[in-house]
Amino acid sequence: MTEYFATIARSLEETAAKELTDLGAKNVKQTFTGVSFEGDQKLLYKVNLWSRMIFRVLVPIKKFPCNNAKQLYQEIQKINWESYLSPEQTLAVHCTGKNQELNHTHFSALQVKNAIADQQTANFGKRSNVDLEAPDLILNLHIKKTHAILSLDSTGESLHRRGYRPAMGTAPLKETFASALLAMTDWEPTLPLLDPMCGSGTFPIEAGLKALNRAPGLFRNTFAFEKWPDFNQQLWEQVKQQAKQQELSQLPAGIYGRDRDGDVLQQAQTNAENCYLDQHLNFAQTELFQLEPPSDKGIIICNPPYGKRLGDVKQLGSLYKQLGDVLKQQFKGWVTYVLSGNKELTKQIGLRTSQRIPVYNGSLYCTLLRYELF
Ligand SMILES: C[S@@+](CC[C@H](N)C(=O)[O-])C[C@H]1O[C@@H](n2cnc3c(N)ncnc32)[C@H](O)[C@@H]1O
Repeated sequence: MTEYFATIARSLEETAAKELTDLGAKNVKQTFTGVSFEGDQKLLYKVNLWSRMIFRVLVPIKKFPCNNAKQLYQEIQKINWESYLSPEQTLAVHCTGKNQELNHTHFSALQVKNAIADQQTANFGKRSNVDLEAPDLILNLHIKKTHAILSLDSTGESLHRRGYRPAMGTAPLKETFASALLAMTDWEPTLPLLDPMCGSGTFPIEAGLKALNRAPGLFRNTFAFEKWPDFNQQLWEQVKQQAKQQELSQLPAGIYGRDRDGDVLQQAQTNAENCYLDQHLNFAQTELFQLEPPSDKGIIICNPPYGKRLGDVKQLGSLYKQLGDVLKQQFKGWVTYVLSGNKELTKQIGLRTSQRIPVYNGSLYCTLLRYELF
């Protein structure tokens, strides 16, 4: 069993821990913006391919005392780098966290790179170059107080970049965030789902991928672990093959995206095409006040505009009031979730919440509000 560490957005740890457990992870433990777990190589590949909520999977290779630059350099030099990287291969080092002496992440990353390059030069007379675009090996150094953890990054580009979304609306949600929010709701693939202000379509698309049991990682070109010396091509092909076999051919229930803006809906459509969902999802241009329920029950989820400037906030009040009116008049039997970044605005909805789930959208504190409409 190998120890792994999944990095996750703040407030999504519990939901992601459940997802990892469902994928077969053992000894799952939540920490702030991360979940540690154990498993074999197959699990590492599966989590990278299947996780809908995490950013990346790290594989810790050394935990050590790290008070200053000299100690960091010496500890990194104690690792035999030949088993991870040849001088012909390229390298990138990312660093998070600081302490009193090591208070610039860029400098700390440089120390790691220098320690590795110096060892290679002493052993082989040549050294790896740094490549920030497409390195052969990505290292992650995390400094916390007097200690540090050095990990291999098995993922590379964050998993929230699914590869289906070159086109983006004005304020798209991160794919991982949208997926985690869906998992916090009562929605399950057998229930209809409607986003009345879907923008670039993140909620309908993430719901569609989940409902068809389609692994989100199937749209990515590469994962960092594919360049590792221990990469098991056969196992990876098997994991991907199994994923393809588990896909459903039809959605169990309808998934609907509505928006007033024809241009962003076109983006939603293009994004859906990029992950072969366009035949499954139902997008249509609709003003909120004209919204009609596509069935007699289901789940609504949306993130209406929050408005960053005061003028926006005043104008937006009527939009939120309209949302409340439409829900009251048209959506009896439905459960609605609204992602709110502004309490004053959501008050205008004028409905009593049955649940309030605190979440962070990036650094913005928000609440996922639940309304039950009888
Ligand atoms: C914050 S964005 C939603 C972003 C979306 N969740 C995504 O990930 O791309 C809000 C959306 O509400 C839409 N909207 C604003 N007022 C509307 C109205 N009256 N009727 C329908 N849609 C509206 C906007 O066009 C915009 O696309």
